[in-house]
Amino acid sequence: MTQKNQPKIPDQPSLITSANREARPSTPPSAIVDFVSHSVAQTQRCGSQLAQQLGPGTVILLEGDLGAGKTTFTKGLAQGLGVEGYVNSPTFTLVNEYEGRLPVYHLDCYRLENGREALDFGIEEYLYGEGVTVIEWPERIREIWPSSYIRVTLSYLNETKRSLRVEPVGPEYVGLMQEFKKSAFGSSL
Ligand SMILES: Nc1ncnc2c1ncn2[C@@H]1O[C@H](COP(=O)(O)OP(=O)(O)OP(=O)(O)O)[C@@H](O)[C@H]1O
Ligand SMILES: [Mg+2]
Repeated sequence: MTQKNQPKIPDQPSLITSANREARPSTPPSAIVDFVSHSVAQTQRCGSQLAQQLGPGTVILLEGDLGAGKTTFTKGLAQGLGVEGYVNSPTFTLVNEYEGRLPVYHLDCYRLENGREALDFGIEEYLYGEGVTVIEWPERIREIWPSSYIRVTLSYLNETKRSLRVEPVGPEYVGLMQEFKKSAFGSSL
């Protein structure tokens, strides 16, 4: 297909059917959002719309390979929380802190070996603080994940497309996900 004949990218990402999803027993399938983002702007918009629903103390775990779009999603999320200025990956500094409607703590655990290293760094201050804590490469510190969090899984589909799954873990986030669906897709499914 030539570039000229490409379908127009919709303003809203396309929602995948809620049928047959795998879910944790504690997470109602209707609270999970799966969709395909067709552009950087759509991934950022989803982050921004999720941000509208977040309260103090929320932890967001961002899973996905190198280049999947975790930092891109975080830029939208931070913008949605009112952060002004440039949001960059804290790969070497481990954490970047921003001031928005709530404090935003952006962590990147890529260079950590395990949860112990994160505890030595003082991660608990962020995990159990009053801000929104967003963590890239949380797989590295799985043994210290909190009991409740929002998990976002990004996967590379092609150069411009990514699949995203947004999944609440913990009952307190289920209602929030319904609101997120309504605002992002105009549907509570
Ligand atoms: N639909 C899309 N959503 C997100 N990023 C996209 C999309 N299409 C293309 N991209 C590109 O993919 C790259 C995503 O990079 P990003 O830094 O967000 O990934 P990451 O998951 O944080 O990687 P890392 O593990 O290295 O930190 C960017 O270059 C971005 O322009
Ligand atoms: Mg990144």
